[in-house]
Amino acid sequence: MGPDAGGGTAVIGRSQAPVAAVTRICYGWNRAKKLNLPPGPPGWPVVGNLFQVAGSGKPFFQYVRELLPKYGPILTLKMGTRTMIIISSAELAHEALIEKGQIFATRPRENPTRTVFSSNKFTVNAALYGPVWKSLRRNLVQGMLSSGRLREFRNVREIAMDKLIDRLRADANANGGVVSVLRNARFAVFCILLSMCFGVEMDEEKIETVDQMMKTVLITLDPRLDDFLPLLSTFFSKQRKRVLQVRKQQIETLLPLIEKRRSALENPGSDNTAASFSYLDTLFDLKIDGRKSSPTNFEIVSLCSEFLNGGTDTTATAIEWAIARMIENPKIQSRLYDEIKSTVGDKKVDEKDVERMVYLNAVVKELLRKHPPTYFALTHAVTEPAKLAGYDIPTDTNVEFFLPGISDDPKIWTDPEKFEPDRFVTGREDADITGVTAVKMMPFGVGRRICPGLNMATVHVNLMIARMVQEFEWTAHPENCKVDFSEKFEFTVVMKDPLRAKIKPRV
Ligand code: HEM
Repeated sequence: MGPDAGGGTAVIGRSQAPVAAVTRICYGWNRAKKLNLPPGPPGWPVVGNLFQVAGSGKPFFQYVRELLPKYGPILTLKMGTRTMIIISSAELAHEALIEKGQIFATRPRENPTRTVFSSNKFTVNAALYGPVWKSLRRNLVQGMLSSGRLREFRNVREIAMDKLIDRLRADANANGGVVSVLRNARFAVFCILLSMCFGVEMDEEKIETVDQMMKTVLITLDPRLDDFLPLLSTFFSKQRKRVLQVRKQQIETLLPLIEKRRSALENPGSDNTAASFSYLDTLFDLKIDGRKSSPTNFEIVSLCSEFLNGGTDTTATAIEWAIARMIENPKIQSRLYDEIKSTVGDKKVDEKDVERMVYLNAVVKELLRKHPPTYFALTHAVTEPAKLAGYDIPTDTNVEFFLPGISDDPKIWTDPEKFEPDRFVTGREDADITGVTAVKMMPFGVGRRICPGLNMATVHVNLMIARMVQEFEWTAHPENCKVDFSEKFEFTVVMKDPLRAKIKPRV
């Protein structure tokens, strides 16, 4: 799930703001207040550090990474009217999200665009910590993502995996053995989530239409300068109009799918392609604590979009980095292939098998350590004024967690820069991914707001890697080229040059 600050703040660099209108006088803005905020680079009046970040030409995650040596594991950036506190150490993440979990469990004020798309904070990820969030999250977790429910969708995953292999084969045949990794992985996981969400069958063309629309929504959600400086909003009226158009388009695309399912439920037997269960079924009559009515159609659109968005790019990103690492290190790939062969012989590897595969699980854990798909958890906020590391954390402050600061920390990990699944096999190192005992890596966040899709996402990542390696041998394209591990932000942190790889069917 991509946070609003998941590196995306850098996109404000794309907007043309009237910078000259702002007085450029440097001052230690946080000293002017009585609050004892964490340290941070000095900013300008009114805009704070906003234009330094936007004008740096760097992705936001890179900007933050370069501040860490100077300002340490908790720092402040003043982004226009928003104060952002960025936490990048395991101890402080544990203190905030586990020890003081209830206080740090809410979300900050939304920007106007996100308010539109979340139906005024009526989604699991956007809801304030309170009864609406509890009802929505309980419904998602128990109604859809429990292990029992997940088992029911086993067939959906199997069909999507077969389709993935077919698409890769077709892609390779059409392109001299070369395939795009992210695009194909993305399509496969999107098919699974669509099917779980709507419970209706769709042809590839319809799937592409919905996918395209979801991408447009994500682009529209990119933060803009006026989100941080509302006084600039007059310069962004065109963009605001566009937000409403895209929302309308989103509703027009999803509403027919919602109505189709509603009708199939109301008239059992009328649609023989309808699945036995879907996320929508849990939403139509959902009781929300403290509210009389069940969700409206518009709210259901927001909840379905969240379901699709949460697990698509995140999972596909993980697959792209996984294949890149296996091309870089053929020994890892062949060891994984050997494990698959010795576990399943000649049959197709399935999700029951992957649970037993120790090396595969280690590869996936190392993957999520080294390449957490989002570099920031979703933005948190405190429910009441709080203290962390002796500093004040006021309410209405964006509290960000910079995940690589934790999973790349040499105080916690030996040779953190190396991609080395063996660290988890030999028992030399371990990490509780839920962070309850201690935080060492948190690709899914930790605490009350931990990603509810964690188990499902882990199944998807394991299964996709296993099938892709069982069917094909993966090598670099162009041949013998070194893989370039540079990153860029695009909803998640993906490879700067989208990975194209050569595949050879295994015999
Ligand atoms: C590899 C895949 C995934 C990764 C890396 C990932 C990562 C994350 C992260 C870092 C958060 C923020 C936690 C926080 O606020 O501290 C999050 C939240 C969330 N994720 Fe995921 N996610 C993944 C897959 C999924 C899937 C498959 C779904 C559901 C279909 C999902 C749904 C959500 C939701 C609804 C939230 C908000 C939870 C809340 O605010 O209570 N995610 N995810």
